Amino acid sequence: MSASVIAVRSFDDQKPGTSGLRKKVKVFQQANYLENFVQSVFDSIGDFSGQTLVLGGDGRFYNRHAIQVILKMAAANGFSRALVGQGGILSTPAASHVIRKYKAYGGLILSASHNPAGPDEDFGIKYNIGNGGPAPEGVTEAIFARTKSINEYRTLEANDISLDGIGATQLGEMRVEIIDPVADYADLMQSLFDFDAIRALLAGGFSMKFDAMHAVTGPYATRILEGDLGASAGTVMNGIPKEDFGGGHPDPNLTYAHDLVEIMYADDAPDFGAASDGDGDRNMVLGNGFFVTPSDSLAILAANAECAPGYQGGIAGIARSMPTSAAADRVAEAMGLDCFETPTGWKFFGNLMDAGKVTLCGEESFGTGSNHVREKDGLWAVLFWLNILAVRKASVEAIVSEHWQKFGRNYYSRHDYEGVDSAAAEQVLQTVRDQFASLPGQILAGRIVSACDDFSYCDPIDGSVSSKQGVRVLFEDGSRIIFRLSGTGTSGATIRLYLESFEDDSARQHMDAQDALADMIVAANDISKLRELSGRDRPTVIT
Ligand code: G1P
Ligand code: ZN
Repeated sequence: MSASVIAVRSFDDQKPGTSGLRKKVKVFQQANYLENFVQSVFDSIGDFSGQTLVLGGDGRFYNRHAIQVILKMAAANGFSRALVGQGGILSTPAASHVIRKYKAYGGLILSASHNPAGPDEDFGIKYNIGNGGPAPEGVTEAIFARTKSINEYRTLEANDISLDGIGATQLGEMRVEIIDPVADYADLMQSLFDFDAIRALLAGGFSMKFDAMHAVTGPYATRILEGDLGASAGTVMNGIPKEDFGGGHPDPNLTYAHDLVEIMYADDAPDFGAASDGDGDRNMVLGNGFFVTPSDSLAILAANAECAPGYQGGIAGIARSMPTSAAADRVAEAMGLDCFETPTGWKFFGNLMDAGKVTLCGEESFGTGSNHVREKDGLWAVLFWLNILAVRKASVEAIVSEHWQKFGRNYYSRHDYEGVDSAAAEQVLQTVRDQFASLPGQILAGRIVSACDDFSYCDPIDGSVSSKQGVRVLFEDGSRIIFRLSGTGTSGATIRLYLESFEDDSARQHMDAQDALADMIVAANDISKLRELSGRDRPTVIT
């Protein structure tokens, strides 16, 4: 086996977004496209000679090919060991755990999360650092800078290795270990949650469904829920990962997880339903005929953390992304905890967790997690809910209603306008910016505007500043209207409109969120000219 240096021309479009580099498979299939990006990562992350790299992905189309390419490059670049999930599979949270557990230098995770998969769909790659979390902006910026000047990559002339059997093989100077993708993760979950209590709940007539959406959590959920916890066979639906995710869009929300939603709103609905996304970091939680918003879910997990053994010592603090509702802030205040507001994207939570400032984190985009790893974690959230249900012996709806009664309800909704012309999308945000001086003091939707700004975040640990993280219109009563452009899309622009209003009167806490927010929705369109500028008369997805 000999190492070669291959001369290449650089690409100018390899800028990592909210969560790594995501492009159409066809883009990745261009000669050297993947290789250039991987070499740029290796050139930007410091000295890893003699160290371990973790490698795995969500099993989508191109996953296996990319793993073979990366292994040969990792060997030629000086890693001494690679840990690879069997079949090339590692959910994003499991990869984060494996990096931490085996003290790897870092990991490459192959995923485009919930984006559809297949030869004409999306692929993605992101680098996670030694703490198990996504590379911080300084690192992704260095990688991007390197992609623009790269002119060669290193690889090993070698045969592909088998990814299907557990065990070790040698690739040049590097040892490749194919590991069970589920085992370490399952042990971690067992250390955090009261499996005996959950087992008793499931044995006592409590019924549930978990929709793996033909994506990576299938094997994790089947082993943990049906295996370790004794849920009945068939509890996990769509549990075999497919390269095209069964042609679906594995985003666990009310629109895309419709199979599960139908089951949970039927007359004979189970007590509990949950789904996760393509790479296993997102979750959706439902009760019988009842949807829990991700923002509420974070607040409820925090308020009930004592139910789970892994959190019984108390939690250090809570962090949420800026567009996530302030429901968690109210819990933090009541518990005397710090609550941090960060820009969108899990990478901003890493420093806070490493510094011991927060235990629980969440995003409105169906992401919840804790310091057990440095990614959000879908199945973790599901197990946390099961643990709470097992201890509290109440329905999902009862737990949520009681929570609202105690803390107030933050009515919340996100409206996405997908595939909008990029210039028009920019103009929507600019239209609001142009009114920053005149809006404060005005009455919109019956509420007084208190301030407007472009959200900017100064990381309290490393002092780095991230600006222009969303346009905010804030109201005196705590209500908010926020506009942001997605950083994960692969075609056109997606405008995200986030709406929130607070209700502390328990008699008015049981409305449909769209009805409760109706006047805010009208006001948001008025001030931004969203519909006129985007040429759309309604959102593509409402969550
Ligand atoms: C979206 C979500 C964000 C999440 C990210 C990765 O990013 O909004 O909360 O962290 O996916 O899962 P966006 O497309 O909004 O940039
Ligand atoms: Zn994901």
